[in-house]
Amino acid sequence: MQNDTAKITARGVQVYYGDTHAIKDVDVDIAANTVTAFIGPSGCGKSTFLRCINRMNDTIPVARVEGDIRIDGEDIYDKRVDPVQLRAKVGMVFQKPNPFPKSIYDNVAYGPRIHGLSKDKADLDGIVENALRRAALWDEAKDRLDAPGTGLSGGQQQRLCIARAVATSPEVLLMDEPCSALDPIATAQIEELIDELKQNYSVVIVTHSMQQAARVSQKTAFFHLGNLVEYGETSRIFTSPEDTRTESYISGRIG
Ligand SMILES: Nc1ncnc2c1ncn2[C@@H]1O[C@H](COP(=O)(O)OP(=O)(O)OP(=O)(O)O)[C@@H](O)[C@H]1O
Ligand SMILES: [Mg+2]
Repeated sequence: MQNDTAKITARGVQVYYGDTHAIKDVDVDIAANTVTAFIGPSGCGKSTFLRCINRMNDTIPVARVEGDIRIDGEDIYDKRVDPVQLRAKVGMVFQKPNPFPKSIYDNVAYGPRIHGLSKDKADLDGIVENALRRAALWDEAKDRLDAPGTGLSGGQQQRLCIARAVATSPEVLLMDEPCSALDPIATAQIEELIDELKQNYSVVIVTHSMQQAARVSQKTAFFHLGNLVEYGETSRIFTSPEDTRTESYISGRIG
C-alpha cells in the first residue's frame, strides 16, 4: 500500500483500552489531496483509529497506542512532538457538536489566536469570516457573531465546529460522522466543503452512510472487529470487494 504521495503512513498500529484490543495491526497509507472514508460496523474501531492520527487517544487514560504513525514522514508519537501543535495541523470534527462555551466568533478565532495566525483584528475577522463561509454557516451567523455558539441549532453547531477546525488551515482534517446531526441541505453543503478541502488537504471521514462514502471519497477503508480488512479505490470497494466481510457489509448483511 506504499505510494509516493502518502501524507499519512501507519504501520503495525495497535490500540488497547485496558485489556480490549480495539485496533489490530493496522497498516495504511493515506494520500494527500484525497478524501478517505472509514466504514464498518459499529464498534469495529473507526473512531479509535481516527483518533490515533491526531493523538486524541492520549486524552483517554485507559487507551494505549503502539506502532508507527507518520505525517510527511514525521513520527507523530515522537516525544518532541507537541500534541497541541499537532492538532492544529490535524484538525478534528466529532460526531456530537462540541462548541466551546464562547461566542460564535471566539469559537472560530480560538485556534488562530492560540497559534498566532493573524496579524491584527482585521486579519482575524477575515479568517473567521472565511472559515464560517467554508462551513456554510456565514449567512446564518454573520449578524450574531457575539452570541454564544451553544445557542445555535445542532446542525449549526456542527458547522461551527467545522469552521473552528478549518480556521487553522489544517493539513489533515479528521471527521467522525460529521453529518449525523445535520439535515440533508446542511449535509450537502458539508459534502461540498469536503470536496473543496481536498484540493489542499487530506480529509479522513468516518461515515455509516455508504451513499456518503461513495459520494465524497476516493479511497475507502473497511474495518471489521479492529482489523483493516480492505482498502482501495472507493469505486472498486463498492463494486467488486475482494473480501467476503466487505461484501457482506456493503450489501447490508452485517453491520
Ligand atoms: N474510551 C473507551 N474506553 C474503553 N473502550 C473503548 C473506548 N472507546 C472505544 N472503546 C472500545 O473500542 C472498540 C472500538 O470502538 P470505536 O468507538 O472505535 O468503534 P467505531 O467503529 O467508531 O463504532 P461506532 O460506529 O459505533 O462509532 C469498541 O469495542 C469500543 O467498545
Ligand atoms: Mg465511532
